[in-house]
Amino acid sequence: MSFKRLLRDLDAYIERDPAAHSRLTVALTYPGFHAVVWHRASHWLWHRRLFFLGRVFSQLSRFLTGIEIHPAAKIGDGLVIDHGMGVVVGETAEIGDNVTLYHDVTLGGISPAEDSVNQKNTKRHPTLADGVIAGSGAQILGPITVGRNARVGANAVVVRDVAEASTVVGVPAKPVQVRAQAKPGAFAAYGTPTADLPDPIARAIDGLLAQVGELRQRVGELERDLASAQAVPPPGDAALTPEQSADGAGNSGAPRGTGS
Ligand SMILES: CC(C)(COP(=O)(O)OP(=O)(O)OC[C@H]1O[C@@H](n2cnc3c(N)ncnc32)[C@H](O)[C@@H]1OP(=O)(O)O)[C@@H](O)C(=O)NCCC(=O)NCCS
Repeated sequence: MSFKRLLRDLDAYIERDPAAHSRLTVALTYPGFHAVVWHRASHWLWHRRLFFLGRVFSQLSRFLTGIEIHPAAKIGDGLVIDHGMGVVVGETAEIGDNVTLYHDVTLGGISPAEDSVNQKNTKRHPTLADGVIAGSGAQILGPITVGRNARVGANAVVVRDVAEASTVVGVPAKPVQVRAQAKPGAFAAYGTPTADLPDPIARAIDGLLAQVGELRQRVGELERDLASAQAVPPPGDAALTPEQSADGAGNSGAPRGTGS
């Protein structure tokens, strides 16, 4: 593991955890950072076919940090595991760059206990693209993909692909808002809203204003039609005598133009 990569991992905490004050504090006291360092070692061993040793490293890390990452899992740069306790990352999980996980997140399989033999060596765990934020307790299950800069709400259970830059919540997780534009690099601590998320009240007012505009246009058209209809006397009116006009002869008293 290069020193540069280590610094990038440390800086990720300074950028994304408002409580992180210095690289030294993160390096010495952040279990999420320790778990990533342990993982880099266990991953290295795993890929040299030292499976047992890799597993020992990952379990030591779990014992010390409360975070379990399978040695085979692929993890990009700048991963922040905030608080950490209870995080589980499965064997075939893949995590892009600048991803943030809060405590109790699971990147797991859908049903590992059933037909386990046939599930071996198949992709069973999720892929999180760059910039994903997974809230505390989120369970992301199966070989699905969570798109770039997407946000998963606390305690959501995600079993389907998540679109880029969207926010999903609930059980099963469903989208609640879609960002107009993904802003790579912009991070909201704890997944709080940013200016690029449209305010729902403002959206509702915009919709109402658009409808009012359409209605005003329609009323204008109807007024113009009515004015031109009144300007042209219907054929036959000119032939009426003044008496007929006065007593309304020729009609039943109903206003002109109304049908039966
Ligand atoms: C998902 C999340 C990022 C959305 O944040 P947001 O952009 O502020 O969204 P809002 O609060 O406007 O929520 C939008 C809707 O989703 C609902 N919602 C938000 N988070 C939810 C969640 N975790 N579960 C269920 N519904 C949720 C809101 O009630 C709201 O519903 P409504 O429109 O019917 O009122 C945020 O709520 C969240 O869960 N962040 C995780 C934070 C975390 O794990 N912190 C741990 C720090 S230690």
